[in-house]
Amino acid sequence: MVAKKAKPGQFIILRIDEKGERIPLTIADFDVQKGTITIIFQEVGKTTKRLGNLNEGDQILDFAGPLGNPIEIKRYGRVVCIGGGVGAASIYLKVKELAKARNKVISIIGARTKELLILEEELQKISDELYITTDDGSKGHHGFVTDILQKLIDERKNIDLVEAVGPVIMMKAVANVTRPHNIRTIVSLNPIMVDGTGMCGSCRVRVDGETKFTCVDGPEFDAHGVDFDHLMTRLQRYLTEEKLALVLG
Ligand SMILES: Cc1cc2nc3c(=O)[nH]c(=O)nc-3n(C[C@H](O)[C@H](O)[C@H](O)COP(=O)(O)OP(=O)(O)OC[C@H]3O[C@@H](n4cnc5c(N)ncnc54)[C@H](O)[C@@H]3O)c2cc1C
Ligand code: FES
Repeated sequence: MVAKKAKPGQFIILRIDEKGERIPLTIADFDVQKGTITIIFQEVGKTTKRLGNLNEGDQILDFAGPLGNPIEIKRYGRVVCIGGGVGAASIYLKVKELAKARNKVISIIGARTKELLILEEELQKISDELYITTDDGSKGHHGFVTDILQKLIDERKNIDLVEAVGPVIMMKAVANVTRPHNIRTIVSLNPIMVDGTGMCGSCRVRVDGETKFTCVDGPEFDAHGVDFDHLMTRLQRYLTEEKLALVLG
């Protein structure tokens, strides 16, 4: 049922078992015929590590979705899709659908080091151009995704849309690069979520000075209105508990 309704930009919330926390993960791909969705995740804490320990054939308790608003797929012209780290999983479906809608899609993926790059081959196949960056220079451009974006802007001038998903600091940097050029820029925000249906308020973010709930108003927002510093502070608020959960298992 989720596969039938899924659209690019949406996510699911899963629980591994009765006592497990609920975590949001992007629908990286879906197959309506098989009735499956694909999730791609990075092991960062207790729940994602437990998920990573599951084997083929194991089961999880449940997942809810598709949640959040899909991105608007139409012919924009030239679109730059940027995925930082595991954010590449979130841009894959967007690139696929934007390319189908006859956009010229330039993808940029970046990671700390080449081992952390994902979906390179897959994105190569569906993008008009693919650029790779690594912080340590182990593959592609030695530096950040924003270096390539700045270069593209300087060279071409006519970018109609930028879509960026990744660490908050990266999305903030992308917004700072495109703002002076007035290029429409959409980011997918990743605050801590609980219910995913607009009831708990955990995922609140500030956009254009207003409070928005990422799960029902987003997760995509106009980057130029997002208060990224506020989001970074809110993401830190359970650090002690997260560390404890990992140690106690
Ligand atoms: C709409 C959305 C889509 C996402 N898609 C993906 C994806 O496709 N792949 C992926 O690897 N990650 C994705 N994330 C982030 C993912 O949900 C968190 O990494 C995960 O919840 C961490 O849980 P944990 O118990 O393993 O780690 P924890 O120990 O709980 O946390 C580790 C870090 O993850 C952040 N985090 C913790 N809980 C949440 C939460 N409920 N929501 C968001 N961030 C949290 C914290 O800031 C913390 O720094 C997405 C987040 C959102 C909001
Ligand atoms: S996750 Fe509870 S309101 Fe969005």
